[in-house]
Amino acid sequence: MADKSNSERVQGIGHSRKRVEDARFLQGRGNYIDDLKLPGMLYLGIVRSPYAHARIKSIQTGPAMAVPGVLAVITGETLKQFNVHNMPTLMSDTQMVLPVDTVKYQYQEVAGVLATDRYTAADGVAAVDIEYEPLPAVVDPKMALEPGSPKVRDDKPDNHIWHWEWGDEEKTNQAFDEAGVTVAEDIYIPRIHVASIETCGCVAKWDPIDKHLTLWMTTQAPHAIRTVVALVTAHLGLSEERIRVISPDIGGGFGGKVPVYPGYVIAVAASIVTGKPVKWIETRTENIAADSFARDYHIHAEVAADKDGTLTAMRINTIADHGYTDAAANPSKFPAGLFHIATGAYNFKNAFVEVDGVYTNKPPGGIAYRCSFRVTEAVHTIERMADILAHTLGMDPAEFRMKNFVQPEQFPYKSALGWEYDSGNYAAALRKAMDMIGYEDLRKEQAEKRLRGELMGIGISSFVEIVGAGPSKHFDILGLKMFDSCEIRVHPTGKAIARFGTKSQGQAHETTYAQIIAEELGIPADHIKVEEGDTDTAPYGLGTYASRSTPTAGAAAAIASRKIRDKARKIAAHLLEASEDDLVWEQGKFYVKGSPDHAKTIQEIAFAAYTNHPQGMEAGLEAVDYYDPPNLTYPFGSYICVVDIDRGTGAVKIRRFVAVDDCGVRINPMVVEGQIHGGLAMGFAPSLLEEIVYDENGNLLNPNFMDYLLPTAVETPRWEVGETVTPSPHHPFGAKGVGESATVGAPAAIANAVVDAMWHLGVHNIDIPITPPKVWKILKDHGAALEE
Ligand code: CDP
Repeated sequence: MADKSNSERVQGIGHSRKRVEDARFLQGRGNYIDDLKLPGMLYLGIVRSPYAHARIKSIQTGPAMAVPGVLAVITGETLKQFNVHNMPTLMSDTQMVLPVDTVKYQYQEVAGVLATDRYTAADGVAAVDIEYEPLPAVVDPKMALEPGSPKVRDDKPDNHIWHWEWGDEEKTNQAFDEAGVTVAEDIYIPRIHVASIETCGCVAKWDPIDKHLTLWMTTQAPHAIRTVVALVTAHLGLSEERIRVISPDIGGGFGGKVPVYPGYVIAVAASIVTGKPVKWIETRTENIAADSFARDYHIHAEVAADKDGTLTAMRINTIADHGYTDAAANPSKFPAGLFHIATGAYNFKNAFVEVDGVYTNKPPGGIAYRCSFRVTEAVHTIERMADILAHTLGMDPAEFRMKNFVQPEQFPYKSALGWEYDSGNYAAALRKAMDMIGYEDLRKEQAEKRLRGELMGIGISSFVEIVGAGPSKHFDILGLKMFDSCEIRVHPTGKAIARFGTKSQGQAHETTYAQIIAEELGIPADHIKVEEGDTDTAPYGLGTYASRSTPTAGAAAAIASRKIRDKARKIAAHLLEASEDDLVWEQGKFYVKGSPDHAKTIQEIAFAAYTNHPQGMEAGLEAVDYYDPPNLTYPFGSYICVVDIDRGTGAVKIRRFVAVDDCGVRINPMVVEGQIHGGLAMGFAPSLLEEIVYDENGNLLNPNFMDYLLPTAVETPRWEVGETVTPSPHHPFGAKGVGESATVGAPAAIANAVVDAMWHLGVHNIDIPITPPKVWKILKDHGAALEE
């Protein structure tokens, strides 16, 4: 065991080391895409469609070209000459880069304008004259499935994209037939938008002499992008060694910076054609209106139980609105992501899930917005249904959950839908949350208030996540296996550089990855430089999303460190003139068994690796690991929310919110807490505020932050956080991912609290966002609104 002072110095796992990246972020010294200014750089502006569905009759570029400073207008026809007017989506569908005949959603890219500066580009955009013939649009996916609906895609037989199902339908139906009690509910989880502080953008720089493309871009997955660019542009002679993708500091990604948007491709084409660097940066409205959305699941859920409340079966069918093309960011094998984690924390014997993907005249997407591929949708469904069933049976929702949880001794637990949960103790997390909030007293208070006509609700969400994609035998994106990587080089003076295939967007990888290596090698974290995001230097990896960095690249850091330690042991044996078997490792040094003073530090060993290594051994001290996890990790938690509802306005006030999270071993408790605070705010937002709204013609009604409501510090409640620690048995140091848990778990706790306050009025479900007008109308319909 390392002594305490050494452990403080090294700052390994378990230390709340301050975030090293914050010095530059807080002082405005971050290096974001828009900070990049290259000599001779041109600016790309994008002309967008005012219609959700229209035929392009003509594009007059002349007026734009007449604007001084406008150099070119790029249309679908321009790109078609090089066969890059279309591109594949991550789900192997087709997405237009620029259209040649029809537009399929409002704000779709129609043409690119290249100019000498950003303002001139905007003037050029305004001057492009396009004549459209509007066509009927379909925005509701249920209507899109009706015979006679407007057809979104000319190249497809109808608007139905795919049907996907999982589980045993027959046994599940039988369990429903035999059930003592069943409940059913329609739940809509609305379309929302990733509101990163930084919008998307890139700088493309084609060097016509070296025939080399450098692409600085806001991407969460630089390596995958480079490979895809190389594959789709091979016919133009752009090959992978001539492409360098650099992802500099990223101002929030949350899944929204996984897909390739047309703007990136147009910028690359423009740079190749002009031989000049080209910058493209979205405006806020472009970001909201045209980039990938999240959620938009129309769910019909049923659960069955015995009369005593023992859950027996779950059945879900869902309509997934994908917009005009299936550009969801999911592992290839799972068109509905990991939605089949929907049995949650409960010991269901039978379950069946089916999802139908549908085209509509809306932007494409279906990204995993701070969640591991549709886990938020799954958690919201099961946690709402658990409450509905508990209330139907007249059981306390906490008691109902305790009765149905998968028990600690059942792990590793095989769920009815085939997942193998690695570890968990769901009852312990819920009990802790109940103790922190004073659950039993709150129930008494609620009963008293109800007698006085006051509306107070208590909502629980005992969620299970599934993160760390993934075992590569099941998980790939466009065929690229979902492992991740770490390469460590220890320099002669015992300092190190570590490079990763992931890419932080604010999650503090520079801080926490160094702590993993510090823990394993005893090199102080301050002496370890962490780099990500440059395909020329970092080892190949699939990037950061779906809370996969710790389960994959974090594990790779530990394994690469252990490889280095193995070599260090050999060097130490040589230096100490001892047998390797006689050496004992203590954090940061090897000593000879029985004589702790006869030791060599990792720094001395590193120096020897370059100056005095054993004859026949390769010089240097470095290792790389490509980590293919044996399983996913299953973080979990229990959240409890207390709300008071104003019967006069319908306003919901969150009085208290307790979040107990279990992400296994915590690398940096402070960073984990920060992730949870941020995640809770991002779970709170869609519960009460956020939703993308279209009219029946596909016009977007809220493409800016005046109308698309995000919470500020004023609206955001105070979070009370707690923890339990159940290590993952298969992760090298017992960690599970955590970045998304709170976003995934929070909405159900809030919705459950609101419905709990109103169940006695006959209210069984309220779809998020639970806005004051929505609540007030329900209160009025149930005779409970105060109207004076
Ligand atoms: O993939 P992403 O970085 O978004 O998610 P993550 O793996 O859950 O990690 C988010 C941040 O929390 C990283 O800085 C991790 O190192 C840190 N973390 C931690 O300190 N302990 C854990 N058990 C999990 C994550």
